[in-house]
Amino acid sequence: MSFRIQPAPVARPNRCQLFGPGSRPAIFEKMAASAADVINLDLEDSVAPDDKAQARKNIIEAIGDIDWGRKTLSVRINGLDTPYWYRDVVDLLENASDRLDQIMIPKVGCAADLYAVDALVTAVERAKGRVKPISFEVIIESAAGIAHVEEIAAASPRLQAMSLGAADFAASMGMATTGIGGTQENYYMLREGQKYWSDPWHWAQTAIVAACRTHGVLPVDGPFGDFSDDEGFRAQALRSATLGMVGKWAIHPKQVALANEVFTPSAEAVADARAILAAMEEAKKSGAGATTYKGKLIDIASMRQAEVIVRQAELIAGQ
Ligand code: COA
Ligand code: MG
Repeated sequence: MSFRIQPAPVARPNRCQLFGPGSRPAIFEKMAASAADVINLDLEDSVAPDDKAQARKNIIEAIGDIDWGRKTLSVRINGLDTPYWYRDVVDLLENASDRLDQIMIPKVGCAADLYAVDALVTAVERAKGRVKPISFEVIIESAAGIAHVEEIAAASPRLQAMSLGAADFAASMGMATTGIGGTQENYYMLREGQKYWSDPWHWAQTAIVAACRTHGVLPVDGPFGDFSDDEGFRAQALRSATLGMVGKWAIHPKQVALANEVFTPSAEAVADARAILAAMEEAKKSGAGATTYKGKLIDIASMRQAEVIVRQAELIAGQ
């Protein structure tokens, strides 16, 4: 047991991050009108190389012109292995209005990646006299990223959220799949001739959650590619929520409601959590550290579990 108190992540809802290519400004208003908590305007892999410059212009204009409400507004820049990223950062920070909240750094591989972007962002912020500091989010989507996940989670005070990017992660790991998240046909156990599918993303997700929780960063599940498969999305999101992730990306607007539903604690779960807290208060009065609720043991650890659910519900209700 460490004497260090686990730091709390930023107190804002992050149930769904809706993505849209920066080269497709016609959908920006629709993104702003959606029910997503976070908007990610993309300069990276959904934008063709020839369109990067125009996409920057579109995004910079839209940040100032569109009413994004109370959403967290984030722009995904290009990776540090490309010739585009520094221009993304400089153009955005020199020209975008103060409404920009965050930049997302893809394919991070080590803490020094964040240090490099932080140095550039800090210099442009000072040069331009920007008063609102830009926050960071990163994508873990490479073998190096997952191998160095903890140092990445600790790398910058700007860092607020970390996502798992299943497609690039699978490619970097050499995984034999082209699926973006979800159940993988060939990842099963066999017992008495019967197949039982396991979750090939489980280890990476758990490593991300542990690194994030250690350093007060929000752990987020990335994309689910097959947007015609609502049940597949829901199943993946439920697994992620069960493991401690706070939200999931939407790569099509129809996935927003699915993510919001899964990552908003149900009325039943909140009522149960409150009942556990009340039962423990009663138990404490009689000097007991443990009691029963619905026929099961609850103790002081159960209070901490219940508090997670109640806090999340209050955060969402208060947004
Ligand atoms: N955000 C908001 N609205 C969107 C949208 C998005 N990401 N993608 C599509 N829409 C709109 C469409 O404009 C259309 O609106 P309409 O009913 O007013 O005409 C409606 O939602 C239905 O769109 P649909 O025809 O089903 O999809 P599409 O063929 O236009 O686009 C994708 C499909 C997958 C190409 C598109 O959703 C997309 O670009 N997603 C994001 C990709 C991305 O950013 N990837 C990077 C992260 S992995
Ligand atoms: Mg990627």
